[in-house]
Amino acid sequence: MTTLIEVKHLSKSYQKKQVIHDISFSINEGEILCLLGPNGAAKSTTINILCGLLNYDQGEIFYRNEKIERNLLYYKKYLGIVPQELALYEDLTAEKNIQFFASLYGLKGEKLKAGIDFALRSVGLLEHRKEKVETFSGGMKRRLNIACAIAHEPELLIMDEPTVGIDPQSRNHILATIRKMRKKGMTILYTTHYMEEVEEISTRIIIMDHGKIIAEGTKEWLKDRKNEKEIVIQLADNSALSLKEIYQIEGIMNVQLEENELKITVIKGVENLDSIIAKLIQQNKKIQNIVIEADNLETVFLDLTGRSLRDVR
Ligand SMILES: Nc1ncnc2c1ncn2[C@@H]1O[C@H](COP(=O)(O)OP(=O)(O)OP(=O)(O)O)[C@@H](O)[C@H]1O
Ligand SMILES: [Mg+2]
Repeated sequence: MTTLIEVKHLSKSYQKKQVIHDISFSINEGEILCLLGPNGAAKSTTINILCGLLNYDQGEIFYRNEKIERNLLYYKKYLGIVPQELALYEDLTAEKNIQFFASLYGLKGEKLKAGIDFALRSVGLLEHRKEKVETFSGGMKRRLNIACAIAHEPELLIMDEPTVGIDPQSRNHILATIRKMRKKGMTILYTTHYMEEVEEISTRIIIMDHGKIIAEGTKEWLKDRKNEKEIVIQLADNSALSLKEIYQIEGIMNVQLEENELKITVIKGVENLDSIIAKLIQQNKKIQNIVIEADNLETVFLDLTGRSLRDVR
């Protein structure tokens, strides 16, 4: 496994407010690393530091084992940057926008032409190449924003919430483009607060909150770290229900009755759902509904922070 970027003990303050607290992480060649975190987690600040757009107070950043402070220019040519805010010229055509950004990376002549074609094709805008950006939908603009970052075929594509506020079709298109870019050999750093996207494309995840890394791993690993599960059973009525009987079942950690809702926390893998149902039937209870908590990143985040990712925005 080759490490492309290594960040060591990075800290950053705006005026007096510290927003990044001593974070360390690496980006490995060929991965889609998702930086997942709510509003204000410092995702953009971290990314902008990596892109050389912001200074930082403490820490070190290495690209292929080379410290990048003094070699920023040399390093930037390996990056493709998709900023959180659209960076496009509305009165230029799609093609001219890509041409502008690709030229900044030194593309000329045939290489430039091929790069523009590659970028337009990758994001599905080939037939709109001659149209001005001002006529584009939000989703098309987002896709063009990506095209501007890939014409020079960067080693590392850094994307800051590239799917915010767009229709599902454009979003799917963007996620498919990212997978294609990975297949072409690009490494991708992708920030988002949508865990559905992370579930779909990540090969590894870093969860950030309040400028700190609170968990790191593959989605399977993160989901597996919880060793308990919650079962919620809706009863027709709760009269004379003995919770003691349910506590006696193996694997039961906690039982709580709120009105007609029975919440049971069990050890993962020892769910014993059949025994729970049998005990309820023995007590003549009518079961109206059973919900078993799904393993997803939302519950992982909730577990780690006590807050829901959906609530924060
Ligand atoms: N230029 C700035 N000056 C002062 N504070 C800032 C500045 N930019 C960001 N911050 C603060 O730094 C913290 C991290 O912000 P940042 O934009 O990096 O978060 P984020 O994870 O990208 O959030 P979002 O999901 O909203 O894009 C926030 O508390 C924010 O208010
Ligand atoms: Mg941001």
